[in-house]
Amino acid sequence: MFDGTIDKNRLPRHIAIIMDGNGRWAKRQHKTRIQGHEAGSRAVREVIESCRKLGVPALSLYAFSTENWRRSKTEVNALFHLLSKYIRREIDELHANNVRVRFMGRTDRIPKAAWADFVAAMERTKDNTALDVCIALNYGGRAEIVDAARQIAEAVKAGTLDPAQLDEAAFAKHLYIPEYSEVDLLIRTSGELRLSNFMLWQVSYAEITVPDVLWPDFSHQHLLEAIAAYQQRDRRFGGRP
Ligand code: IPE
Ligand code: IPE
Ligand code: MG
Repeated sequence: MFDGTIDKNRLPRHIAIIMDGNGRWAKRQHKTRIQGHEAGSRAVREVIESCRKLGVPALSLYAFSTENWRRSKTEVNALFHLLSKYIRREIDELHANNVRVRFMGRTDRIPKAAWADFVAAMERTKDNTALDVCIALNYGGRAEIVDAARQIAEAVKAGTLDPAQLDEAAFAKHLYIPEYSEVDLLIRTSGELRLSNFMLWQVSYAEITVPDVLWPDFSHQHLLEAIAAYQQRDRRFGGRP
């Protein structure tokens, strides 16, 4: 149980979470994987609420990777069904709480009915300012970099960009959500030690925590622990005094 304090003046500006362990949680409880994902959506609700109350301005959540299509059709369909059900159920409260909902990833393979719910949520909440929640769907860090490179190549071809002018800041403008091109704190639950293709550009200087908790059990307390760990780190960005 976290019993320390966190400094509200030094909060991470952007937290990214690889929400992992729903399947293992379900197995331990003798439930189906889909019930595990359902339980995971309750943890999503709690972490959004915690970030909003603490005053963290941006939260990115990895919900479905470009590699997750390799799972069974039943699980994939259930995941999209759950996500759109979650959005429909939560949108009124999110909007009332001034939360902006965004989706990032390749939109091509997302089932049409689910995509319509996501677009409606983005549209309705686009002027909200308390917290940006970016849900990564059909998202891959490599795909994002390739998509940015393609846009840049097209701009060069059209004569609107001089390759000599391309630097990191100009490149980052082509990422899915350019405002959040830097992650301060990356959390991966379930104890796995890998990035699984999440926000490869953005995590370059992120502080990383890997709490030994399965995603459905991740609570406000775990978030406070991760932020406290973040605040104890010495972020040097390569420099030395
Ligand atoms: C994370 O839980 C949710 C998604 C990837 C959609 P998992 O489904 O990966 O759970 P484990 O890794 O099998 O426990
Ligand atoms: C990463 O988790 C993707 C999401 C959390 C959406 P996975 O469970 O798919 O990753 P691997 O397969 O263990 O690397
Ligand atoms: Mg997993």
